Amino acid sequence: MFFWNRKKEPATATKQEVVTPQEFNTFGLQDLLHYIKREIGVDLFSKNSVIETKLRLFCERKEIYSFRKLFETLQTDRTLRQDLIDLVTVNETYFYREESQLDLAVTFALAIPNVKILCAPCASGEEVYSLSMMLQERRREPREFSITGIDINSEAIDKAQKGVFSERSLHKLEERLKDKFFTHEDRYYHARKEYFSSISFTKVNIFEHEFLSLGKFDIIFSRNMLIYFDDDFRLKTIERFATLLKPEGKLFLGHADIIPDNHYFTKHTDNRLSYYVKK
Ligand SMILES: C[S@@+](CC[C@H](N)C(=O)[O-])C[C@H]1O[C@@H](n2cnc3c(N)ncnc32)[C@H](O)[C@@H]1O
Repeated sequence: MFFWNRKKEPATATKQEVVTPQEFNTFGLQDLLHYIKREIGVDLFSKNSVIETKLRLFCERKEIYSFRKLFETLQTDRTLRQDLIDLVTVNETYFYREESQLDLAVTFALAIPNVKILCAPCASGEEVYSLSMMLQERRREPREFSITGIDINSEAIDKAQKGVFSERSLHKLEERLKDKFFTHEDRYYHARKEYFSSISFTKVNIFEHEFLSLGKFDIIFSRNMLIYFDDDFRLKTIERFATLLKPEGKLFLGHADIIPDNHYFTKHTDNRLSYYVKK
């Protein structure tokens, strides 16, 4: 039997290999959730354990090793704040979502010269593009209407501005509409700009002052955002919508968006579809 003489490793090499993992300190989670709710309205308290893991991974990617430190850094770091907002907001949307409701709004819109529509929130823009397509399908020229989409999520707004969508996002559209309004390249659908000159997108938080400077609108769409708020924030939001709507302007909410009793709107129902009219 042969035994080779093992060479001793130099002491320094052994030292370098020892990497002590940073301990994560979860203290401060509640302050963080209060901060998110206060800033954007989204109430994550009921999703505590899921959100804790998500926030912890977010922190570790940023080399921040406690929720307390994240909370402190957010007070001055605008980029970190936006990254956090992008992380906690849910941007699920698709073309012709709840088509019958869009259709009813379009019927109202056709009766208003130079109608102005606001989609708050619009996520990656599919609702805005859908309304524009439906108005054009019913013989309105782009110059005869305007649609503004706003959202707090910066990635979603970038996507909306680019107008490039996946097959999944267009799954409800018939081929004729896809062919008319999009070019199909590299598995993605690119909105044909010549059809969408009267839509625009801005990154805005509905609770910030900038939101109230967007102008006056005939119709506001706010679908599938209020479900993430509590009643106080829902009330604050619809108060802001009332400020932006013209007299007798209409507000369309998602089916799951229940609003508290209020002085601003009366509820109407048309063929099982509901909407609100500003008092
Ligand atoms: C599920 S999407 C709804 C998109 C579209 N309205 C629909 O129904 O298909 C909800 C959106 O609300 C946005 N949001 C949440 N809080 C917001 C706030 N304070 N200001 C503006 N947008 C907000 C999120 O970024 C997210 O994109």
